[in-house]
Amino acid sequence: MFAILKIGGSVLCNKDIPYSIKWDNLERVAREIREAMDYYLNKGEELKLVLIHGGGSFGHPVAKRYIKNGRFENMDSGFWEIQKVMRRFNTLLIDVLHEYGIPGVSIQPSSFVAFRGERIHFDTYVIEGMLKRRLVPVIHGDIVISNEEDYKIFSGDHALPYLSKKLKPDISLHASDVDGVLDPKGRVIKSINSENIEEVINYLKPSKKNDVTGGMYLKVMEAYRLGVKVLIFNGNKRGNIYRGLIGDYTIGTSIN
Ligand code: IPE
Repeated sequence: MFAILKIGGSVLCNKDIPYSIKWDNLERVAREIREAMDYYLNKGEELKLVLIHGGGSFGHPVAKRYIKNGRFENMDSGFWEIQKVMRRFNTLLIDVLHEYGIPGVSIQPSSFVAFRGERIHFDTYVIEGMLKRRLVPVIHGDIVISNEEDYKIFSGDHALPYLSKKLKPDISLHASDVDGVLDPKGRVIKSINSENIEEVINYLKPSKKNDVTGGMYLKVMEAYRLGVKVLIFNGNKRGNIYRGLIGDYTIGTSIN
C-alpha cells in the first residue's frame, strides 16, 4: 500500500496559541501510523508513506506578520523566520515519529521548491529514492520563492495534489478537523464522483483570496481532478488515521 497523508495544522496544534503542539494528538497520530505499518507487516506487506503537515500555530502567525496588503514585506528576515519556525515544528513532529520507530526524514520545501506562476517547481527524485529505501519523507507547508510574487506560501494543500499527481499513491488522505465534505444540512457526503460533483461544488463557497490553506472548495476541486482516490476525514477522532491507512474509506468523504 502506498499512501500520502496530509495532517492539517489544526490536528497537531492549538491554532489560537502560537507555537503550541497538541501533544496528545501528535502522540496518537504517530501511534496510529505505527499500528497501520504493523498491520501491513503482519500480512507480509508494506506501507509506503509520505507525510505532509501544515503550518499550524507555527507557520501561520509568523507568516501573517510579514504580509501587508496581500504581499510579503521585509522578507530579508521573514523568509528565514518562517523557515525556522516550520523547521522547528517539523523536527518536533519527526522526533515523535522516531519514538514510534517510524523512519521519518525531513523535507524542507523552502530550500528547493518554487512557484513559476501557478506552476510548482518541485523535484521528487530524492523523495522517490527515499521511498524505495523504506524511509518516510515528511514534507511541510513553508515559505518559498515565486517568480511572479517574489514569495508565496507553499501549503500542504499544494503539496498533497502535486505529490499525488506525480507519485500516484493508492490513496491520498486529508486528515482535517472536520468529518468530511458536508452537505447544506451538515451531513457528511460519503462519496463525490462524476454524478454529484456539480451539485457539491455549488454548496462550497470559494475561499477568500488570502486564505493560504484554500478551504474545502479548493480541496475538493483539486482532489476531483487528480485521478487518485482522495479521502477527507477528521484527524482529531481517535482511530481515523489508522482506519484510513488500512483502507477503511467509510470514515469521511471519498473523492474519485
Ligand atoms: C501553511 O501550510 C504553511 C505556512 C503558513 C508557512 P498549510 O496551509 O498546509 O497549513 P495548515 O494545515 O492550514 O496549518
